Amino acid sequence: MIGVFDSGFGGLTILRDLKKALPDYDFLYLGDNARAPYGSRSFETIFRYTLESVRELFKRGCPLVILACNTASAKALRSIQQQVLPFEFPDRRVLGIVRPTAEEIGKMSRTGHIGIFATAGTVSSGSYQIEIHHFFPDLHVTQHACPMWVPLVECGEAGTEGARFFVKKEVDALLAEDPEIDTVLLACTHYPLLEKEIRAALPPQVRLVFQGGIVADKTVDYLRRHPEMDRRLSRNGKTAFLTSDTAKFFEKGAFLFGMDDISAESLTF
Ligand code: DGL
Repeated sequence: MIGVFDSGFGGLTILRDLKKALPDYDFLYLGDNARAPYGSRSFETIFRYTLESVRELFKRGCPLVILACNTASAKALRSIQQQVLPFEFPDRRVLGIVRPTAEEIGKMSRTGHIGIFATAGTVSSGSYQIEIHHFFPDLHVTQHACPMWVPLVECGEAGTEGARFFVKKEVDALLAEDPEIDTVLLACTHYPLLEKEIRAALPPQVRLVFQGGIVADKTVDYLRRHPEMDRRLSRNGKTAFLTSDTAKFFEKGAFLFGMDDISAESLTF
């Protein structure tokens, strides 16, 4: 199976595109719902929580794990890849979603000015700026944290007057900082659920970029370039769900993220 990890429900927006791109593959999704959100937690805590989840996915038979969470990718991926995998799991791989997005985003802007909406944790890590400048050194990158957006989505407030207010507030703040921005990246897995409100607040000429499709395309490409990994992945077109909260809590919340009729298994760390 391909393991897909997120702090909670948000990774379901990435899983949806992964399943579309790789319909025959099996996926095991793990949402650390009992300890979400990660967005405002320390580096040490996010590393510890993420590593526990990765270990669980390895234990359950995933040779490849995708951190479908920007906060975990920004704060835990590098340490897991450098300090854990080579010593404990040399034949397993963990991939994140910051680098694949960074590789593409610079190609999408004409003005050379992009904006990024993300959690406070992702913004303060500086990961997007570092990764993007690696590929596009001249790109102007303005990041903006939107601490209200994840709770709005999780409380089922998308589409309401309140959501429109808080989305417009952050969009206006980003564009005030750099009016030349012509491309805006949603670098948090929850934010696609506020697409309508974000589009309504952005000028029509500004392009809105979602990560799901980019991550799915990059995963397909990764498996093409790594046939030794591809061969180890089972293909029955099945997806199973794990959560650190109760199964009922997960099944109910996943509905908001477009996953209805699923059954989850609860685990305790
Ligand atoms: N999934 C997280 C992300 O993409 C957002 C939710 C959280 O803060 O845990 O950054």
